[in-house]
Amino acid sequence: MKRLLVAGLLAPALVVCSAGAQGLLNPATEKKIDALLGQMTLEEKIGQLNQYSSPFDMTGPAPSQGAQKRAYDQIRSGLVGSMLNVTGAEATRKAQQLAVENSRLKIPLIFGYDVIHGYKTIFPIPLGEAASWDPAAVERSARIAATEAAAAGLHWTFGPMVDVARDARWGRIMEGSGEDPFLGSQMAAARVRGFQGKDLAAVDTIAACAKHYAAYGFAEAGRDYNTVDISESTLRNVVLPPFKAAADAGAATFMNSFNEIGGIPATASVHLQREILKGEWGFKGFVVSDWGSIGEMVPHGFSDDLAHAAQQAIAAGSDMDMESRAYVAHLAGLVKSGKVDVKLINEAVRRVLRVKYALGLFDDPYRYSDAGRERAATMTPEHLAAAREVARKSIVLLKNDGLLPLDKTVRSIAVIGPLADDKDSPLGNWRGQGAANSAVSLLEGVKAAVSPATRVLYAEGAKLVTGPRNFSAPSVYNTTDRSGLPAAVEAARAADVVLLAIGEDAYQSGEGRSQADIGLKGLQDELVRAVVEANKRVVVVLMSGRPLTIGHVADAVPALVESWLLGSQSGHAIADVLFGDYSPSGRLPVSFPRHVGQEPLYYGHKNTGRPGPESSVTWSHYTDVANDPLYPFGFGLSYTTFSYSEPKLSATEIGRDGRLTVSVTVTNTGKRAGTEVAQLYVRDLVGSVTRPVKELKGFERIDLLAGQAREVTFTITAADLAFYTARGRWEAEPGAFRVFVGGNSRDLKEASFSLR
Ligand code: NOJ
Repeated sequence: MKRLLVAGLLAPALVVCSAGAQGLLNPATEKKIDALLGQMTLEEKIGQLNQYSSPFDMTGPAPSQGAQKRAYDQIRSGLVGSMLNVTGAEATRKAQQLAVENSRLKIPLIFGYDVIHGYKTIFPIPLGEAASWDPAAVERSARIAATEAAAAGLHWTFGPMVDVARDARWGRIMEGSGEDPFLGSQMAAARVRGFQGKDLAAVDTIAACAKHYAAYGFAEAGRDYNTVDISESTLRNVVLPPFKAAADAGAATFMNSFNEIGGIPATASVHLQREILKGEWGFKGFVVSDWGSIGEMVPHGFSDDLAHAAQQAIAAGSDMDMESRAYVAHLAGLVKSGKVDVKLINEAVRRVLRVKYALGLFDDPYRYSDAGRERAATMTPEHLAAAREVARKSIVLLKNDGLLPLDKTVRSIAVIGPLADDKDSPLGNWRGQGAANSAVSLLEGVKAAVSPATRVLYAEGAKLVTGPRNFSAPSVYNTTDRSGLPAAVEAARAADVVLLAIGEDAYQSGEGRSQADIGLKGLQDELVRAVVEANKRVVVVLMSGRPLTIGHVADAVPALVESWLLGSQSGHAIADVLFGDYSPSGRLPVSFPRHVGQEPLYYGHKNTGRPGPESSVTWSHYTDVANDPLYPFGFGLSYTTFSYSEPKLSATEIGRDGRLTVSVTVTNTGKRAGTEVAQLYVRDLVGSVTRPVKELKGFERIDLLAGQAREVTFTITAADLAFYTARGRWEAEPGAFRVFVGGNSRDLKEASFSLR
């Protein structure tokens, strides 16, 4: 263990009040909240902590019986503080009227919704956007999503989802930024900035919500909602950085998570919510539970009943109850019996009111519900153009033996596969109010791109799914109908080149969509074999919400692109890349495995005590599959090639206040212009807790003309080297470091330095 410490290097994680967290604190508002709290009954206070999903059509007549009538009456009595899933200017206005025109204190409702990758204009799924390695583009996507959502009366999105996810079996990997805490932090902050803009009270901004706090992505075996049991070191060093980045960027709210962690449900975790988030980080906004997560503490075996769960959740700092109905049913009784201190309620209500004030709802509760703006600000040509721009930046070229880019004047082209003319799947899961079947399909994109003389053939080949496809229905991927295969083979044979669109449909990834097998479902492998036999000139366009095991497909075809689920403009964006209007610049935000048995698979693993030698048997490896991924984190090809010089360091030693620069010359060695993503990794050779073999510490997108060279310079300070050490502090430890620069996490040039 290292003996000396670099003292005073308090990482962002230990800074008590971040700029972002303080943004919500305003003395004048706090006084108003004091006054309001003074007028509120206990029941009205608890009402502010109660959130319902829209129980009826807000624009229709008042419900006359049952649970719907009860909810209606509760809204009118001021016993509901927030609603989710009420959307549209008209519906939100009606619901707001119920609260504001009927309740005693006229406290406005806050309307939340899952605006995850767009509201009506749908952008690439977040994992896809992360592949752009372009925080500015991702910020713009969130900005547009916020503009559309705010015009529809929404105040608050349940995003960004900032869970680091290292297991491709987990269906919700599609909703985040992949496996890396550094890239994840950049994306988290960009999305918060985009949603919230510069002023939460502006009519085109909405409050962000960093979720799922915390460690939801570490579910055992990648099975959704499963147990999480990770060390404090993994929690602090891997899971929390993107949450901290979101808090620092000013995220107004957090959502806790369904999972337990170390035996404590996150919803009841004092450590996560009170000690770290509200304590160490000084977070001033509020925490909403995940849907029913307070109630789920009963089946977790942590709470005797719903009342007990309410007591535990409020004590742990879960401020708002999403749909467990635990607070509204039990908190008043718990306060009266002395089991819950009313101070806890007051504090939670204060946090909720703070966000409502910051949104300007007390000035005008209807300010966001504007039917005119909703019409004018939704799916504008400008928004669609931005969606196309982010989408093409998100595409990752994984293999190209020279077939790409294609010529637009090609005589004939066959567009084949279950996803080839699918106008719905590109919208992905969590698609907001994106209208079903509203995406540009690949077939449409190709038709719009090629010359009028080009013959475009189409064959579905085989269906991917039988039965319903939507958020709530489990999809069935057991197609046995081979009747479409002959037409696919015929089209492949007749065409000069084939585009084969395969992968996953919209609802194959997402919540509750974990898979034990991440290979191609249905008859897709059979389709690939048949098509390749008919025509060798095949470009596979892979659409998916997660890494898939496609090594055999990559071996069989000359070109392969990962196009995720790219949103409204999918087909145009893919065509932009395939026909060379845009040279691919996306890089993988997550490792692609050779075999599902390698999962969880990530580049920033530990070295172990047995990293080799490979000549022996007794080293850390599989005897049947290689350790390394099929495609590593950070990987992606371009239509040109890049070379890196040896990195030059400005110093080989730095002190605690020092900095060094790492400079490298990147040269475009090909014949076309292109964009490279230069990446900087560091390895801390010895730590008081062991350190990963590589950690991303910086990246830069650089545009280079053919033959052009540019020097890229990264700066490293001691703070960049800090981590959560064995002493329970965020600090850098002196010693030897390696630094790596290159175009992906595998192919790197390296140098060394030390920290005094
Ligand atoms: C449950 C999901 O886990 C969460 O991400 C989402 O925001 C809520 N449902 C509300 O839809």
